[in-house]
Parts: sequence; C-alpha cells; structure tokens
Amino acid sequence: MSKQKLSKRIGVIQPSLTIGISAKAKELRSKGVSVTNFAAGEPDFDTPDNIKYAAIKSIVNGNTKYTPAGGMNELRDAVVEKERGRNGLEYKRENICISVGAKHALFNIASVMLDEGDEIIIPSPYWVTYEAIAMYVGAKPVIVETKEENGFIPTIDDLERVITDKTKMILINNPSNPTGATYSEEQLKDIAKLAEKHDIWIISDEIYEDIVFDGYKPISIASLSDYAKEKTLVVNGVSKTYSMTGWRIGYTCGDKDVIAAMIKLQSQSTTNPTSIAQDAAIEALLGPKDSVEKMRSAFEERRDYIVAELNKIDGITCHNPKGAFYVFPNVSSFYGNKFNGNDINGSMDFATLLLESEHVALVPGIAFGADEFVRISFATGLEEIKEGVRRIKNFVSKIS
Ligand SMILES: Cc1ncc(COP(=O)(O)O)c(C=O)c1O
Repeated sequence: MSKQKLSKRIGVIQPSLTIGISAKAKELRSKGVSVTNFAAGEPDFDTPDNIKYAAIKSIVNGNTKYTPAGGMNELRDAVVEKERGRNGLEYKRENICISVGAKHALFNIASVMLDEGDEIIIPSPYWVTYEAIAMYVGAKPVIVETKEENGFIPTIDDLERVITDKTKMILINNPSNPTGATYSEEQLKDIAKLAEKHDIWIISDEIYEDIVFDGYKPISIASLSDYAKEKTLVVNGVSKTYSMTGWRIGYTCGDKDVIAAMIKLQSQSTTNPTSIAQDAAIEALLGPKDSVEKMRSAFEERRDYIVAELNKIDGITCHNPKGAFYVFPNVSSFYGNKFNGNDINGSMDFATLLLESEHVALVPGIAFGADEFVRISFATGLEEIKEGVRRIKNFVSKIS
C-alpha cells in the first residue's frame, strides 16, 4: 500500500471560501462579464501615496536584506507608540511581534499556544480563518452562537456555559467580520471579568478598529483591566486601515514569552516580513492620517446607502453595522423557494444562483457559521453598490 501523500492535518481544513469566491468573480470579469463584486475582503482604495513613497525610499536606501525575525526595531517601536497613543496601552519592544499580515499573527499565536484538545471559544458568526487555524493546530473551536437582535454580540451566560477545564482562550473580533458588530465598553469589561474568573487568555482581533461609524469609539479589551492587559494578545495590522492588503504586515502585542515563541517560530519559517513593507508600515502608523479619515467616511456613506436600500427589499432584513466594511443581511425568508426551477435551501444556493444569474458575487453566510445570512462587502465604489443592489432586487423578485 502506498504511503498517504498529504498529512492528516492539512485534510482538516478547507480553502478560504471568501478568497475563492473573490477569485471566481475576478475570473468572470477577466472574461468580459460585468460582475458586481461584493465578496472582496479588502478596501478598493489605493494605498496612500506617502506610504508608497516610503517603500520606494526604502528600496533606494537599500533596506533590501533580512531583518530580525520579529520585525525591524523601528517598526516594533512604531507599534508601541501607536498602541500607547491609540489605546493607552503601554508595551515595550519585547511585547511586539511583526508578522506577514494579521492572519499570520493569528496562525502563529495558535501554533505557539494551543495544544491538541485545547479549546478556543469563538463567537459566531466568525471570520472563516479562526476556525480553520484552531483546527489545523489540533485545538477544538468552540462556537458560541450570537443573535441578530443582540447585535451579534455573545451574552456572558452563553460564553460561560461553554467554558471547561480545557478552555484556553476566547477570541474577540471588534469590529467584526462578517457582521460589522461592535462591542460596548461594558460588554468588553464583562468578557474581561469572565476571562479572569476562569483564567482564560483573550485574543483581540482589532484589524477593523479604524473603520467605524456613527461616532463609535473602539476600545481595546486589553486596556480594561490589569488581567486583560496581561492575558490579551492584541492582533492588528495595516491591511484594512491603510488599504495595504497586499503588503502583508500584521502585528501582535502582548505577553513577552508568547511573543518570543512567535518570533522563534518565524525564525524557522517565514524569517522576516518583507523589509520594504515594514518601512511602509512605519510610515502608515506614524505618518499623516488624513487619507484614513477619507476612506472611513466613504465607507460610512456607502454603509448608509446599502443598509437603507437592502431593508427596502421585501424579504431581506439588514442589521446596521457600526464598523468594518460588511453588511450581513438575513435572506432566510427565501429559503424553501425556487429560482428558475432551482431550489434555494440555504445561503450557498442563494449566493451561487445570484452569481450565475445576475453576476453579483457575495459570500454565503454558511462560510461564517450562519446560514440564514449572506455577507456583502461595501469595499467597492458607490456606483457599483447601486448596480449590485439593483441586481439583487431583480434576483429576489424572480424567486417564487
Ligand atoms: C477579522 C479579520 N482579521 C484578520 C484579517 C487578516 O488581515 P491581514 O491582511 O493583515 O492578514 C482579516 C482579513 O480579511 C479579517 O477580516
């Protein structure tokens, strides 16, 4: 009998559905089909010029060699400064690890902290990658469902109910992908208290902290108690705030032993994040912020439009997100019906038929553990959003 080609470990995860759908939309577009792409997880804006020039300068100045595995000292110090100014969090360089995007940071945290059978609590709907990473390292993702009427925020009782002696950590994503849900200070304090009571670590994914609406002020859970400061790993990066998804710079702030372990892992895997992108990230974190506000307010204008329009469509209800660039409408009233003779039995059918018939790409909620919903990214121009909404209206009007 021949030996199994692939490891059992790689068999437990699926490719990222969001990246897959976005690629399918791009492929259709390249064939000349007019596709409305609501699947993208990245801002449509260009990276601001000051950041691009910092990268050019970096190349010209010869910063083209290996850097320390945990990132350049200047960038680690820039993160220290940013977190102090932004969240009032006092870190030292030894508390910071620069990784190849926030996704890589999360992967490394899981790799250095989770053993086989350890449990990690993940509120649902959740970003696809959390579950995959936990499973890949042999840990058990424990999914806690949230309700639309609670703004997709988990209740403390629901979280406490699933805690066992194997619970190692809880993951908070504020603002959330895919729902745009945001936590209040009180809710974060309650989670910090719960974590302290049961001696649980917290991962706080704050990648959307600057894309917030209606004056919402995101607070890092790490700033809410001494315990939370000590036991939270804050994950962030430059991808979303500065429209730098392709540059691949993310970071973790937290316990120095965890950070040292992550750096050790990086030293034996990726070595360092790209030197040039690190210079660009320094400019992003410490440079002028006017482009950030321009992008944020454009997102808010789009959010206002799309939420209002989707709620006008019979059969669709759409929660109003206070952060990130996604809406997460409930389309389950169409399930059990047909489109052109095809059954719509869930979000995957809804998304597939919509893409095939109206060429609108969005992500089925099932990818985030919530089949009643679909995720629409409004990280695309207002004209495209208007056209996409028109097509969705057209699609659902033909469902019978
Ligand atoms: C919630 C969340 N965390 C992390 C990431 C990863 O960001 P990065 O591009 O820095 O890897 C994403 C990207 O989609 C995200 O939505």
